[in-house]
Amino acid sequence: MEILREIRPVRDLVGGWKREDKSVALVPTMGYLHEGHASLIKKARADNDKVVVSVFLNPAQFGPGEDLATYPRDWDRDAALCESLGADAVFSPEPAVMYPPSFEAEVSVPALSRVLCGASRPVHFKGVCLVVTKLLNIVSPRRAYFGLKDAQQFFILRRLARDLDLDVELVPCPIVREPDGLALSSRNSYLSPVERTAALALSQGLFAARRLVADGETGAREILEAVVRTIAAEPLARLDYAQAVETATLRPVARLEGECLVAAAMWMGRTRLIDNFIHPLE
Ligand code: PAJ
Repeated sequence: MEILREIRPVRDLVGGWKREDKSVALVPTMGYLHEGHASLIKKARADNDKVVVSVFLNPAQFGPGEDLATYPRDWDRDAALCESLGADAVFSPEPAVMYPPSFEAEVSVPALSRVLCGASRPVHFKGVCLVVTKLLNIVSPRRAYFGLKDAQQFFILRRLARDLDLDVELVPCPIVREPDGLALSSRNSYLSPVERTAALALSQGLFAARRLVADGETGAREILEAVVRTIAAEPLARLDYAQAVETATLRPVARLEGECLVAAAMWMGRTRLIDNFIHPLE
């Protein structure tokens, strides 16, 4: 497995593969990899000739006062996991390689980025759009893999790719959960044992909402009420939002009709957790 820190060697490596007509996949990550990331790498491995994983803790997507400085890192474990999953290359640049001192350009999808998580994280999705655009331009993959744990991120990137005619297929991958239901996240490592237990309010609220949907409920108010009630019953939890939106525009819906996202975010102490499901249910 190649480990690349600069842009030129990535282009040379991928250029060689493309001349041999190999299909190339990109799996963008911020490191501290877990089974959620692994599921993306495995799918990329199964569907493509060559797999590049990027490991880049992107400063541009963290707002002031957010957890950039404390975000967990474990480079040796990440590299070993990528190797064991059969990745062909890991691209892990220093911030100055991605953002040299003169850097100025912006990429954004403003309306979709203002809602849901964007309401409390105003610069976040702009930073995501910027880095993903750069990674796609550097690697120029045929396919790029993203987890639906971050469903808003996926729908924003899908719009970005359409609007900018990016020649790439964005592949959505299902949420990977702990056996008790908590969605895997690098940020789960922030939780104390007591918070880890209390954090289940989020997935349990969404599971309760899901059961209502499975039983035929389509009213957004009734469905969201199940999420709100479950989280309100957990004293350590503080709801950020629970919303039902259509996936194309991320605008709220009164009824679940067509493709909709039911998403929630919750504070557990100083840790912000997100989870969701997509309607129609799979
Ligand atoms: P990161 O949080 O490291 O996640 C990398 C990818 O793994 C994302 O596509 C995310 O949705 C997916 N992922 C995380 N947890 C998952 C889970 N439990 N199940 C399935 N997929 C999961 O998302 C980012 O990094 C960044 O914003 C990035 C796209 C890399 C841009 O910097």
